[in-house]
Amino acid sequence: MKTYVNPVLTCSLVAFIGLFIGCSDLKETLPAASQTIGVHPSGWLSKTSSDFHGATIRAQGWDMRSCKNCHGGNYDGGTSGQSCRACHTETLGPEACNVCHGSTTSAAPPTDLNGNSDQSYRGVGKHQVHLMGTVRTAPVGCSNCHQLPSGNIYDPAHINGNPDNRAEINFSVVAKRATSGVTPSPVYYEVGGSCADTYCHGAFKNGNGDRLMFWNGGAALSAACGSCHGDLTKATLAEKALPKTAAQGGTHPINLACSTCHGGVVNASLGFVNPSKHVDGRLNLNGTDVTF
Ligand code: HEC
Ligand code: HEC
Ligand code: HEC
Ligand code: HEC
Ligand code: HEC
Ligand code: HEC
Repeated sequence: MKTYVNPVLTCSLVAFIGLFIGCSDLKETLPAASQTIGVHPSGWLSKTSSDFHGATIRAQGWDMRSCKNCHGGNYDGGTSGQSCRACHTETLGPEACNVCHGSTTSAAPPTDLNGNSDQSYRGVGKHQVHLMGTVRTAPVGCSNCHQLPSGNIYDPAHINGNPDNRAEINFSVVAKRATSGVTPSPVYYEVGGSCADTYCHGAFKNGNGDRLMFWNGGAALSAACGSCHGDLTKATLAEKALPKTAAQGGTHPINLACSTCHGGVVNASLGFVNPSKHVDGRLNLNGTDVTF
């Protein structure tokens, strides 16, 4: 029996796996600058030159499909006899996610498209704390905030030649989760780099729907009890975290012993026994996930 391998499926599978396992290292040893290069300008292999091939690709809106004409449909040499894969050794060759952004462990920044790794840069921001999760919260995957390229990096939802090469924010999944009486319409304000009206930060029943969160600046208020639900100004953790009760026009029971009903998530001293059930889009009540 013949085994038929669907190339499209394999390619998207590789892209999908690449997302999680990251990609192997780029061979950094470049040939000596004195090497003669016929077709390309002399700075083509020099990272510091404005003619560097990476800089050229960037300048043409990150489109390297023209290279395939001579370097092969799979970037493995073609008529030029020079394979991109000699240096870009990742499975996806020069199309591996971390060639343009991210690292060997994550497709998301850092580093960002401009090589920055500090959180104060918009391209870096709070990516990793969302993706990794914390001792209090479940990991938040890319698709909550972006539409992922499907199988092909030239998917118009990905590299789309917009003049500023800016990433698009497309909220989905948990970020848009509706609860009884509250349907979030999340927005990202490009000017200030903030987001509002996300389920995650309070747009849910008895939560704080008015939260404005800053992506690349400000103190880590996002992590404080009372930020997404409850009242930051109160004294104890339980008082801070208590969602809106009848006194604030809400419906949550007036009861500060959270773990008696939410023991699947927190213990009596409000330590998180199961962070993967916090900010995951489901209310955990008496050990069972419910919609609310
Ligand atoms: C001789 C080694 C070598 C070959 C061959 C090579 N590259 Fe590169 N490429 C590099 C290095 C080194 C970098 C810079 C990596 C860095 O900055 O960390 C780079 C960077 C890039 C970038 C990223 C640009 C950026 O600004 O982030 C792209 C895209 C790229 N190469 C595409 C290609 C393509 C397409 C081919 C084949 C047509 C190719 N490369 C062949 C060594 C090579
Ligand atoms: C018209 C055909 C053609 C096109 C299009 C082309 N190349 Fe090349 N490239 C060659 C040839 C031929 C060589 C080898 C001879 C030479 O060095 O001039 C080469 C060499 C290279 C090398 C040096 C490889 C090494 O190990 O010495 C790199 C890097 C490279 N090309 C990158 C690119 C990138 C990136 C693009 C697209 C932006 C591109 N090329 C488009 C024909 C082409
Ligand atoms: C919590 C929301 C969120 C999640 C989750 C998220 N991103 Fe982002 N991403 C952003 C924001 C906000 C920006 C900055 C947009 C801007 O330029 O103002 C951004 C920008 C980017 C950029 C552009 C970087 C640059 O240099 O401008 C890339 C690439 C990116 N994200 C990839 C990813 C990938 C890959 C994942 C998942 C592995 C991911 N992001 C997960 C919110 C998110
Ligand atoms: C040739 C460079 C390049 C490669 C390779 C690449 N990206 Fe990107 N990516 C970009 C650029 C440029 C942007 C932001 C600009 C835009 O949206 O037009 C971006 C943005 C993103 C974003 C943010 C949402 C968006 O589309 O704006 C995600 C998510 C992302 N990339 C995922 C991936 C994944 C996953 C891979 C690997 C399968 C990958 N990228 C490979 C250049 C690249
Ligand atoms: C980033 C926003 C955010 C912060 C900060 C936050 N919460 Fe939550 N919390 C939520 C969301 C959203 C829910 C709704 C249920 C879900 O998706 O898990 C929730 C639900 C809960 C629940 C109900 C059980 C469940 O289903 O998760 C408890 C208990 C809780 N939070 C306690 C706390 C405590 C204690 C703190 C401070 C240490 C805190 N929360 C800080 C967003 C947050
Ligand atoms: C007596 C049981 C009980 C206790 C104790 C309790 N909750 Fe709840 N919790 C509930 C119920 C029931 C709901 C669903 C309320 C609704 O949908 O009207 C809920 C919902 C929530 C939600 C989702 C938002 C909402 O109000 O629907 C959060 C967040 C939450 N609880 C946090 C807490 C925190 C923090 C504490 C401790 C300060 C706590 N709860 C104590 C029963 C309890």
